[in-house]
Amino acid sequence: MKRIRYVSQFSQEMSEEAIGDLATRASHRNSQLGITGFLLTSGRLFFQVLEGPDSQVDGLFEDIVADPRHKDVLLLDTELEITQRFFPSWSMRPFDLDHHADARLEPVRQMLVSILEKRQEIARLTRALEKAIWYEAAAGLAEGV
Ligand SMILES: Cc1cc2nc3c(=O)[nH]c(=O)nc-3n(C[C@H](O)[C@H](O)[C@H](O)COP(=O)(O)O)c2cc1C
Repeated sequence: MKRIRYVSQFSQEMSEEAIGDLATRASHRNSQLGITGFLLTSGRLFFQVLEGPDSQVDGLFEDIVADPRHKDVLLLDTELEITQRFFPSWSMRPFDLDHHADARLEPVRQMLVSILEKRQEIARLTRALEKAIWYEAAAGLAEGV
């Protein structure tokens, strides 16, 4: 089995009802696939953990990445050869952080905001890196290297 985590952003505003509907359908399908985990929302961000048989998780993740309801899907990590599930009884438990009064969850919300900021920074740095490499290569070409 494997466990993956990713973050993504809503493509457009989603009502609580639409998110509830998504989670209910996901939960049904996950039960059939043997997948467990949770789906957390905060602001316009999703954070999801999926765990289950390798091929099922991979297949589902492909579907999820292609889903037009969200964008900028960033895979945070993949744990391979796990022997135990963290969330054995959740076929897909939704959490709405913004409507959760529990102050203990505030650090989780902060963490998500930080991940989003970091990913924007990574995108900026990657573009700068590519530009620098491109200039370097172009200069090399001009000098006949
Ligand atoms: C953020 C997000 C998380 C999703 N999570 C799941 C999931 O855990 N399981 C699932 O079957 N579909 C999930 N989906 C939906 C899939 O992308 C896809 O629409 C669905 O698997 C197709 O089945 P359906 O036609 O029954 O909706 C998710 C979609 C989004 C946008």
